[in-house]
Formats: sequence, C-alpha cells, structure tokens
Amino acid sequence: MTDNHDHQADVAASPPAGTSEVPIRDVHLDTAFDTVPKYFAGGNVALSHLFAMLSATFPDGEEYFVRSLSAVQHRITDDELARDVAGFIGQESMHGREHRAFNERLASLGYPTKQAERYTDRGYRLFERISSPRLHLAVTAGVEHYTATLAELLLGDHRTREVFEHDATQRLFVWHALEESEHKAVAFDTFQHVGGGELMRRLAMTAVHVDFISHTIAMTAVSVALDPDARRHPLRTLRDMIGLIRSPFASLSAATQLAQYYRRGFHPNDRDTTELVTTWRSELFA
Ligand SMILES: [Fe+2]
Ligand SMILES: [Fe+2]
Repeated sequence: MTDNHDHQADVAASPPAGTSEVPIRDVHLDTAFDTVPKYFAGGNVALSHLFAMLSATFPDGEEYFVRSLSAVQHRITDDELARDVAGFIGQESMHGREHRAFNERLASLGYPTKQAERYTDRGYRLFERISSPRLHLAVTAGVEHYTATLAELLLGDHRTREVFEHDATQRLFVWHALEESEHKAVAFDTFQHVGGGELMRRLAMTAVHVDFISHTIAMTAVSVALDPDARRHPLRTLRDMIGLIRSPFASLSAATQLAQYYRRGFHPNDRDTTELVTTWRSELFA
C-alpha cells in the first residue's frame, strides 16, 4: 500500500469519497494477481491457507448476502436505507468479482479454491431452501459483524496489513476491509427495518459462530493437508499452524469485539470507525 497513484489507476467511476456512505467503486486488481507468491501471507504456510480459504468463501457468500438483501428491497420505505442497500449490493458484487480473480490465481498455485467456492455456494443454496427471508438477513447481519471485526483489525493494526507483503493482495484485503467498514450496519438495519427481533438476531449469530469457526478450521486443515509443499516440510507447517494462535486474528480483543454482538440493544455503529474509514478513503481513493 505504498503507491496511491498506482492504486488509483485500478479504479474506474469512483464517486468522490464522502458523497455517499456506501459508495460503489469499480476496482480492478485481476492482472496484478499474476505475481502473487504461493505463501502470500507473510510466507506463513498456515496463514496463507487460512486466507486462501476465507477468500474462497467470499464470492459465493457475498452473492448470498446480496440475494438476502435484494429479496426485501421492495419492502424498504426509508430512502437513506434504500440507498445504502443499493451501495451494499454494489460493493459486495465488486468484492466477489475481485476475490474470484484472486481465487483463480490461488487455484493455479495449487489451493483448492474452486472446490471451496462450489462447497460454499451449495451450502448457502441449501440453507435458502429451508429458511425465511428474515432469517437470511439475521445470518447476513451476523456474518457482517465478523467481516467488520476483521476489517477493523486490518485497517487499525499495521501488523495485520503487513502480513500481506504482495502489493495487490494487500490492496485487495485493505480495499475490502474499508468497504466492509463502510457498510457494516446495512444488513443489520435492513433486518430491523423488516421487523427482525433480538432473539432471532442472537440465535442467528450463534449459528454463524459455529458455522464460521468449524468451516474455517476444517477447510484450512484440508487445504494444508492437500498441499504437497506443506507435507514435504512438516515441521515448518506445524510451527506455522501453532503460530496462528498468537496472530492478531485470534486475539482476545477480536473475540471481545465479536461477543459485543450479544449485548442487548447492540448496533454496529456503537463502535465508531469513522476516523478509520476517513483515513483509508483518503489513503486509497483521495
Ligand atoms: Fe465483502
Ligand atoms: Fe460485507
């Protein structure tokens, strides 16, 4: 993230920062991924597989979020919320497109990102067959609290950003983090706008915790197990896996922030990230 001018060349039709709370930016990073190294997360085998699997779940997860909000768009009677929902849908669509391009590069490096994408899509589509639009919004709002928490870590702590040494990879995750912060309250507000209550919100979050933690661990373990380079260097792989526990992504403060979602009357904007958003808007898109 050292060259703003270079970054701006990748952005088309960006509205000036500040004209919208949730602006849609047409960011293109695809060709810049051609030189991403295999262990793109600080040379750490386990962390690279973890972020590869997270990236693999993003495009189809984000399509599910878009479907969740699109399904109730016609019921939104508040103009500002309607604008934010349109911004949310635009931002998530862009994230999905760029993460798919990143996932292509990861697949060419041997990561099982294609299989993980298909698995994620099937899971969400199966869930859609058996639950209500309001529950989808509750789940989307819960996952958005995860992405907002991760985003705050990335934007606010240089150690987490520096994990991504390759410039295009860092740009992808920091741009994504900025927009997750910008739209962190949209799914939540939509859920409440269509009558979603506290009980469903909290129960859905518990399901999101179980799903997110179990799938992230299982997918990362499978991805590492399928990696012949990781198998050839078992001690390095083991050391990197143990090191995950000490990473800022597994910190107590991140866990505390996640737990705040259970507080009665919680709202995503209770955590003021305005300064972080302003700083990174100007850093990336001024
Ligand atoms: Fe996203
Ligand atoms: Fe999001």
